[in-house]
Amino acid sequence: MARPDNCVVVIFGASGDLTKRKLVPALFALYLQNELPEQFAVLGTSRTPISDIDFQKRTVEDVKTFSSIKSIDRKKLSEFSKNFHYQSLDATNANEYEFLKKRLSDLSIKTKSKENYLYYLSTSPTLFPTIAENLGKKGLQKEKNGTGWKRIIVEKPFGRDLKTARGLNARLQKYFHEDQIYRIDHYLGKETVQNIIAFRFANGIIEPLWNRNFISRVEVTAAESIGVEERGGYYDHYGALRDMVQNHLLQVVGTIAMEPPPIFDATAVRNETVKVFQSLKPIKPDEVRKYVVAGQYVASKIRGESVPGYRDEKDVAEDSRTPTFVALKIFIDNWRWGDVPFYIRTGKRLPTRVTEVVIYFKKTPHHLFAANGDPNIGCNQLIIRIQPDEGTVLKFGIKTPGSGFNIEDVSMDFHYSQLTNTHIPEAYERLILDCMFGDATLYARIDAVEACWRFVDPILSVLEKHSRAKIYGYPAGTWGPMESHKLFDSPKDDWRYPCNNLATEGESCEL
Ligand code: BG6
Repeated sequence: MARPDNCVVVIFGASGDLTKRKLVPALFALYLQNELPEQFAVLGTSRTPISDIDFQKRTVEDVKTFSSIKSIDRKKLSEFSKNFHYQSLDATNANEYEFLKKRLSDLSIKTKSKENYLYYLSTSPTLFPTIAENLGKKGLQKEKNGTGWKRIIVEKPFGRDLKTARGLNARLQKYFHEDQIYRIDHYLGKETVQNIIAFRFANGIIEPLWNRNFISRVEVTAAESIGVEERGGYYDHYGALRDMVQNHLLQVVGTIAMEPPPIFDATAVRNETVKVFQSLKPIKPDEVRKYVVAGQYVASKIRGESVPGYRDEKDVAEDSRTPTFVALKIFIDNWRWGDVPFYIRTGKRLPTRVTEVVIYFKKTPHHLFAANGDPNIGCNQLIIRIQPDEGTVLKFGIKTPGSGFNIEDVSMDFHYSQLTNTHIPEAYERLILDCMFGDATLYARIDAVEACWRFVDPILSVLEKHSRAKIYGYPAGTWGPMESHKLFDSPKDDWRYPCNNLATEGESCEL
């Protein structure tokens, strides 16, 4: 298998959580599979002064703690860590980039990288433009004579709204061209999200059914059982709509709803997803109440244990109105999807962790067996399980064996766990490798980011600026506010998840 060009990866924010939890384990997994360049170096930077040796020791510990690889070969891990180096850097101080430049040049010579540099911005978002500008001022973004590529991966969040996203982009593009900028959305790096595209366009039987003539509704759910944990400071400033919907879940909607691209490359694929975002039917301020339900978890007991409410979490304002749950009913105004509702919901402190897409197919035009039971039986559903227990399930009705003509629902399941010896790469593995190859297909293009903000902004402004906007409290461990159940208006008397709420205390309320 082809390997990327030798290169140096610079991680800004090397002492942060993302580096140890995601980036280092992803690089290690790629290393074990011989997918990294033959020669490479990782240069960690952050303010804390530490030596190369200490950074290497930390790398070993991070892999041991956070890698999902079961038995780690200690010799390989030690070899891997030797590629790690460290440079302390105050990212806001342009003069210090001189040291960075020197370090990069040395590492480039050592690894025969011909000045191929991948910059990974894993710092606080406020530093993104400053780092890009400081790199630019030292000429560290310049690609000379066709050799020495320079790429910059920008972590989320990409702005807080349309205006700030545009502002950030303008500052990045002052020095970097659009094709050097890789805006990460780790949902696009998930194997199961990519598989939506393969499932649709590599199977002849799917695409003819994939439209408003056969599909009655689509549901996209991303439920998390955890709360905001240590991230209260960030989260309270962003909330569920920015944290999950504007980026991850709309990108999932993009893969579900896009037209087939003429070829499979970054431009063609992203041209199609951006059309979906541009076709999202705007939710006007006076429609927000009809199409959006926002909630925030309140204290409860789960399996006998007290669970704090969102407002009791560290670094969260005690009168915060930041939603930790949001449900939306949206429409895509085009020929394929006109009038088909897409229901999106996401929340923290829900009863379980599950991300999935459910496609509901229309009922048969004539209910031949309705007299023999539930008329909704045999209403086909395709469930794309993004995580955990990744897979695909098709539900369909069969005749119950025996007398009469009773129909019951059964399912045909595929689980990724059934594939033997197949490693499902973590999102960050795929995305880092793609960036090394210069393939931006699974990264968000600026027009898509802007289109998503354009859709989300009016909703945010109602929820945040309108004093009468309703935010409902839901007890931690339940499936969100009751109002969201009404919004979803499920075809069965319940939604796909039975109301298996875990909470035994706490009440729904209006905050
Ligand atoms: C992140 C959000 O982007 O995605 C988190 O900031 C969220 O709040 C996470 O928990 C969910 O990612 P995943 O891969 O666990 O679904």
